[in-house]
Amino acid sequence: MEIIIKKDALEGSCAAARVVARLIHEKPNAVLGLATGSTPLLLYKELIRLHNEEGFDFSRVRTFNLDEYIGLSVDHEQSYRRFMNENLFEYINIKRENTHVPDGMAEDVPTACAAYEQAIADAGGIDLQVLGIGSDGHVGFNEPTSSFASRTRIKTLTRQTVADNARFFDGDESKVPHHCITMGIGTIMDARMNLMLAFGANKAEAVAATVEGPVASIMPASILQHHPAAKLFIDEAAASQLKLAEYYRWVYDGKPDWQKDA
Ligand code: PGA
Repeated sequence: MEIIIKKDALEGSCAAARVVARLIHEKPNAVLGLATGSTPLLLYKELIRLHNEEGFDFSRVRTFNLDEYIGLSVDHEQSYRRFMNENLFEYINIKRENTHVPDGMAEDVPTACAAYEQAIADAGGIDLQVLGIGSDGHVGFNEPTSSFASRTRIKTLTRQTVADNARFFDGDESKVPHHCITMGIGTIMDARMNLMLAFGANKAEAVAATVEGPVASIMPASILQHHPAAKLFIDEAAASQLKLAEYYRWVYDGKPDWQKDA
């Protein structure tokens, strides 16, 4: 795993955006795995800026989102489809039919999950997956003890995730759906590159356990230690519990610029 510590969320997000931009430059029809939540917002802002100011072209890019709440329709203000439309897709020249978010209103959830996996495979697999991390170490909505072999499926959120996400639902935990559809950890591990972002002190414990703890399903993100191309962009606050932070800085600072975005 490559650990990239930046001063703040803005610098970390811009560095991550350069990796995404380089991929799309080299492969204009790249398949991106995308995430929601507060963490990727600055990354998406930077991608929008690249489109507006530098003519960056998303016309052939395809995307698959990690997860969606069950029971929220696409126009619900907290649905992840709406989040993606309002925070990225409406501002870049991506074709809406090339964007995919699990269907939280699917009548037959297992069939919809299998179809989602098939659509990813039909697209040639995910080139680059953007990930956040929950304060409990979840990736996507793969909560602690999720199988490392899991594929897209229904999951029940932990009480901690419900509490964490209540801020998007007027602070009211009772409004947060308890079930979701999420790509599995196996799905995420199949991505050719994983790019995780984590900002703020409330992520420091999960980041330290992910990077320096044992690989264990109680800390789902720790599986990234087994991924051949995982990059973790974090700010100083999220890095504050890493034992080897100085080493990670030394590694990154010693790289030539072209390699930093690769
Ligand atoms: P956040 O969520 O970006 O809103 O902190 C991250 C996650 O739950 O994966």
